Amino acid sequence: MGRKKIPHSFVEDLLSRVDIVDIVSRYVSLRQVGRNFSALCPFHPEKTPSFVVSPEKQIFKCFGCGVGGNAITFIEKYENLSFYEAVKRLCELSGIEFPSEFSEEDSEADTVFESANKAAKFFHSKIDRIKEYLKARSIDKTSAERFLIGYAPADYHNHLKINREILKKLNLITEKGYPFFKERLIIPIFNHSGKIVAFGGRALKATQKPKYINSPESEIFHKNSILYGFFQAKERILKEKEAVVVEGYFDVISLFQAGIEKAVAPMGTSLTENHAKTLKRYANRIILFFDGDEAGEKATLRSSKIFTELEVEPFIVRPPEGEDPDSLAKKSPEKLKKLLSEPIPLIRYLIEKVEKAPLEMQAEEIRKVIDVFSPMKDKNPFKFKKFLSELSAVTGADIKWLKKQVPQYRNRKDAEKIEKPIIPEYEKAFIKGMIEGKIPVNLDISPNVFVSDDCRKLFVLFKMKGNIPSSIEIEQEYPELGGTIAEIALTEFTEEEIKASLCRIVKKELDRRLKNTKGFIDRKRLKELCVNLTPEVGGIEEIISCIH
Ligand code: UTP
Ligand code: MN
Repeated sequence: MGRKKIPHSFVEDLLSRVDIVDIVSRYVSLRQVGRNFSALCPFHPEKTPSFVVSPEKQIFKCFGCGVGGNAITFIEKYENLSFYEAVKRLCELSGIEFPSEFSEEDSEADTVFESANKAAKFFHSKIDRIKEYLKARSIDKTSAERFLIGYAPADYHNHLKINREILKKLNLITEKGYPFFKERLIIPIFNHSGKIVAFGGRALKATQKPKYINSPESEIFHKNSILYGFFQAKERILKEKEAVVVEGYFDVISLFQAGIEKAVAPMGTSLTENHAKTLKRYANRIILFFDGDEAGEKATLRSSKIFTELEVEPFIVRPPEGEDPDSLAKKSPEKLKKLLSEPIPLIRYLIEKVEKAPLEMQAEEIRKVIDVFSPMKDKNPFKFKKFLSELSAVTGADIKWLKKQVPQYRNRKDAEKIEKPIIPEYEKAFIKGMIEGKIPVNLDISPNVFVSDDCRKLFVLFKMKGNIPSSIEIEQEYPELGGTIAEIALTEFTEEEIKASLCRIVKKELDRRLKNTKGFIDRKRLKELCVNLTPEVGGIEEIISCIH
């Protein structure tokens, strides 16, 4: 893009008029240490601050990763801008006018941007045609103006006064010259520095399909890096160090209207690593607030994993079933604000998800949530360990088993080795005891105490059925259990061994309950039961009585 060079004298003058401490502290929280200020470096992960800003020298420097420079360099790096854009941004931040003679030259790209702007203004001028629709959705005038909402009449291409080639470039007309958005509500899409680069078009009638069409990717519109609403929300996100990620255009707009001016949305695609990196640079706290349906739940988990890969633990807000942020903002703004004021840290959200799952689904849920958090294993092993031990405390799942559920990023050679799952003898003996009718099937024990997947499945199966199905029946339903059933069938266990296995499982269950029990009397009682539980205590009935 051709643009005028900014004279050296202007840059010098600008830098002398701003204070780097002022500028940097808009992005990171600085602490005064002697003559300088310090902070955790925003450019590399660290636990102790090695990032220093010197008011005397008007420079910053990170002794950890080595980056350094003046206020312009800082903005360039932090916001990922070119030198030219960073100078402009610095002017904007410090209320200094950016001289128009340095403005961009009329290059081709600029014509495209200008044309997009012209088109958006044209659509916006037709807003009266969708008055009723906006009213029905409670979009007020201020919001409509702020987001430059408009309407595309069927013949807009004949009225735009934009040359055909540029219309094609902007995908406002097709290759053959037909209008791309006919009779739709138009939502212009701004890039992160405020230029219109694409459009979203929403159907106005239920018969119009699909509900939304969006401009295709182009030289100036990259879906995997642009977030809808980011330009409008940027300042607020920086100020509050918090961003809310929602699913759709109207979620962003409605939240804005409700006073929450820090919402952004990916457009028709799921959140990408690029989106997440941008948000991480601007905010310390990311809140994921997706639709209250299954798709929203899936998106929550998928996006959480992307943030976890960047060593960010996002916060989660879920709207009531069937609602989305937009509908909630209209129906119950108080509830919306309340939910947003107490977002749930990802770890807690994941653990609650497992707790809520029906018993027979728990193992699968555990695997799912471990997968979401697994990137943390290498990024922040301490945090990951804490997560596993909390998961173990809450579900009673054996920590060894939990560790086995972590997806391994092993090399091929390891992956080729077929690993035969080892089933602890006492678990085999326990299942055998059930099959032989020595241990009842309706024990009040969490399936999570089993280390072996297969024994766990068998235990749940017996418990759900309330009896012991024949081995043929089991194999028909769960062919993958065939090997284990055969193994258990072929192993003989003595009465004593079965009793000892029961004892061990009961002990694990008591331990699990002990971890979850807060009440003093109950704890004391559980402790007593644990201490007294040895194979010598007596018969199977007596051991079972500990958990009934
Ligand atoms: P939703 O269907 O949840 O959109 O899709 P919404 O914002 O709640 O729609 P309203 O409230 O009925 O107007 C979320 C986002 O997915 C994209 C759009 O970006 C939408 O905002 N989408 C959805 C499409 O690209 N195409 C579609 O057909 C539907
Ligand atoms: Mn929605």
